[in-house]
Amino acid sequence: MFIRDSWYAVAWDFEIKHAPFARTVCGEPIVFYRQMNGGLSAFEDCCPHRLLPLSMGCLQGDHLICKYHGLQFDERGQCVWVPGQEGVRKDMAIRLYPVAEKHRFVWVWIGDPSLADEGKIPDLRWCSDPNWVFEGSTYPVKCNYLLLIDNLMDLSHETYVHPSSIGQHEIAEAPIKATADEDSVTVTRWMFNLDPPPFWSANLRSQEKCDRWQICRFSLPANVMIDVGVAPTGTGAPEGDRSKGVTGIVVNLMTPETETSTWYHWGMSRNFQTDDHGLTFRIRDGQAAVFAEDTQILEAQQRNIICHSDRHLHNLKIDAGGVYARRIIERQLERQESRAYPIDTTR
Ligand code: FES
Ligand SMILES: [Fe+2]
Repeated sequence: MFIRDSWYAVAWDFEIKHAPFARTVCGEPIVFYRQMNGGLSAFEDCCPHRLLPLSMGCLQGDHLICKYHGLQFDERGQCVWVPGQEGVRKDMAIRLYPVAEKHRFVWVWIGDPSLADEGKIPDLRWCSDPNWVFEGSTYPVKCNYLLLIDNLMDLSHETYVHPSSIGQHEIAEAPIKATADEDSVTVTRWMFNLDPPPFWSANLRSQEKCDRWQICRFSLPANVMIDVGVAPTGTGAPEGDRSKGVTGIVVNLMTPETETSTWYHWGMSRNFQTDDHGLTFRIRDGQAAVFAEDTQILEAQQRNIICHSDRHLHNLKIDAGGVYARRIIERQLERQESRAYPIDTTR
C-alpha cells in the first residue's frame, strides 16, 4: 500500500531525454520521454496489444513505437497507427500520467489524474532559488521507503554509521525535541560548544568550537528536508542569527518502487560559497559516500526484516520522529482506504 493522490519525484530533470525512460513508481510501471518541444509524456509502460513494455520501443518524432509489432502512440497516449489494418480501435489508447517538471526534478502524479494539481508539488525552493546551490544524485535502495524515513528522522545513527565524516558522539547524546501536526513532523537537535566534525570544519573553514543543529522535517508522501549547519559558539545561532555559520538543506525524496525497493533522490542545497563549483561537487561526492553507508545498513536491515517476518521493530526515544511519521502515513492510508470503499449508510 502506497500513498496515492500525490506527486513523486521520478528523476532529475536532465535524466529524461528524447528517449523512453522506464521507472516503476508505487508498483506502477511507467514510461517517460521528453517531447521535441521539451515537454514531457508519461504513460503506463505496457502496450495494449500484447503487453510488451513500451519502454523497450523507440521514438519517431513525438510518437512512441512499440518494439514488438510497431503500434504507434502519440504524446497523449492515443494509438495513431496499427500495422496491417485500416483505422485504430479506441481501446488501443494507453493510460496517461500527469507529469511535471519543477525544482530540478521530474514529478509524476500517482492517483486520480483529475486531482493532479502542480501547486501540490512539494516546496523545494532551495533547489531552484538562484541564491542557493543544489546538487545531488539518486540511489536505488533495496528497502521499503519507511526504513529510509526512520533513518533520516533519527540522526543519532550518524555517530555509528558515519564516524569519519559527520558523526560525533555528541549527536547520540544530545536530546531531541519531536513535534507533529496533521501531516508533518519536526525533530530538532541542538548541540553546543563542540568541535566541528571534518565535513563541517571544512565548510566553516575553522576548527573553533561551534554550535551545531539538525532540524529534520518529514512531509507527505515521503519527503524529509533536513536543515543542518554549524556556527561558532557564542555568535547567536541558537537565538536565530546564523550569519557567522554555514547552513545546508539536505533534500531527501523517497519514491517507493515496490514494497522492498525505493528510488532515493538526495542532495544538498547551500547558501554559502555559492560560486565555488568545486565545493559543490566535493559536497555531492561526500554525501554520496555518506548515503552509501546508509544504503548498506538499510539493505541489510531489510533482508533481516524479511528473514524474521515474525519479529517486530522496537521503538526507543530516538525513534520518535520516525514513529510520528509512520503514524501520519498510516492515517493517510486509512483515509485512502475508506475513500476507495465508501461505507454504504443507506442500508
Ligand atoms: S505488443 Fe506492442 S505492438 Fe504488439
Ligand atoms: Fe545516515
